[in-house]
Formats: sequence, structure tokens, C-alpha cells
Amino acid sequence: MQRRPQQVHAVRPGPLGKLFAAGYDLFLAGAEREVFAARRRRLLESARGQVLDVGAGTGANLAHYPDDVGEVILLDPSAGMLERARRKAFGLPFPTRLVRERAEHQPLEDRSVDTVVFTLSLCTIADPDAALREARRVLRPDGLLLVFEHVRAADPRLAAWQDRIAPLWKLVSAGCHLNRDTRAAVEAQGFEFDWAEELVDRRIPFPVLQPQLVGRARPAPGSQMGR
Ligand SMILES: C[S@@+](CC[C@H](N)C(=O)[O-])C[C@H]1O[C@@H](n2cnc3c(N)ncnc32)[C@H](O)[C@@H]1O
Repeated sequence: MQRRPQQVHAVRPGPLGKLFAAGYDLFLAGAEREVFAARRRRLLESARGQVLDVGAGTGANLAHYPDDVGEVILLDPSAGMLERARRKAFGLPFPTRLVRERAEHQPLEDRSVDTVVFTLSLCTIADPDAALREARRVLRPDGLLLVFEHVRAADPRLAAWQDRIAPLWKLVSAGCHLNRDTRAAVEAQGFEFDWAEELVDRRIPFPVLQPQLVGRARPAPGSQMGR
């Protein structure tokens, strides 16, 4: 297969940004190896064409995209996270582009992307509804939305624990919300899931980070493009 050139731009994180990004990879290393990597691989095998990875972080998804995707745009406001993603992008068989921006303001044309990916980011993005509206705007009508997120539990006892811990968790984990109903949020912005699973795995160290939604959605027929 012919290899295309890399398109990777430099980003300049401060020391705190670098430290947080390194800590993120370290903190998740065990869960990543044991559980998340397989979930990412299964989810991302559907990715195709121009891909937008929203809240891409340190580029944990990069190793799991099919070799023949068109280009992967990694969007994240954190220079520290993007710098690690930049390093992971070298040598990949598809081009990548780093965009330092928030999900709520995606600097992309309407209907210009084939696949939008959110993994463990809709929990942290300040305005997930705006981010999903933007995803709907930039996605082509026949595009795919791929989601892997920890979500609010259906079990009322676990959900109550998520609610209790949420404020402290948000403080220590750079704004991550434990108790968002992400599936409902996705559907409210005009997407329809054709595959969705809520998974629980005892190897994940914090029960409140479960269940995890893994799913593929498409723009619902007749729904309006977000603005
Ligand atoms: C928990 S990390 C997930 C990173 C990566 N997607 C993964 O699967 O490992 C959450 C990411 O969301 C990013 N983030 C926070 N606020 C954001 C926003 N408003 N728009 C886009 N990304 C944001 C953070 O910088 C961080 O990289």
C-alpha cells in the first residue's frame, strides 16, 4: 500500500500541560492495556475517509484506526495533550493534522468530514450539546459518529454514587463529569444509533467510570443540521 506523507504541526505546551498529559497516559495505562484498547479497536474499525477525533487528547486512538483512513484531524484545546499525540502520529500510514481548538467551535466546513469520533471526551467538554451540534454540522449526511464514553449508570444506586462523587471528581480530573447521559445527548442532537452497547468490566479500577457506552450513530433522516 502506498504511504502518504504525514502532516503534523508543532504545538508548544508549558510545563504544567506536559505534566498533565504525561500523567494522563500513566494513570490510564493499565485500563488502556486491559480494556480500552480492545474497545477502541472495535469502535474505530468503522472509521473511514476524513476523520475528526474530538478531544483527541494524547492520541490514544491513533494506533487503532484502519490503515486506509483518509486523514485524521486531532482536535483538542490542550497543547500538552496534542504534543504527545504529535509524537504518536509519526510513522502512521495515514496523514494527521493537529488542531488546537475547542469542540464547541470546530474550524471546519459544513459537511466536510466522513467520521466524527468522541472517546472519553464528551465527559469533559464543557458544553457537550454544542460539541455534538458542531459534529452534526461538519459531518456529511452519510457520515458516522463513533462514541466511546463512560456514562451515567442506569442502576439508581450507582448513579447516586456518581452524583455524589461528581463534584470532587470534576475538580481532580480536569473537568470530567461522571454522570452525563451521553446517549440521550447524542440522540437529542439528531443522531440515531445503529449499534450501541453499555459495557462493564471489573478490571476498570473505578466502578463510577462505568458503564461505558460504545456505539456508532448516523445523522437521523430528516433531522436538521446543527447550528
Ligand atoms: C479524558 S481526555 C480523553 C482523551 C482521548 N480522547 C482519549 O480517548 O484518551 C479528555 C480530553 O478532552 C479535552 N477537552 C477538554 N475540553 C475540551 C473542549 N471544550 N473541546 C475539546 N476537547 C476538550 C481535554 O484536553 C482532553 O484531552
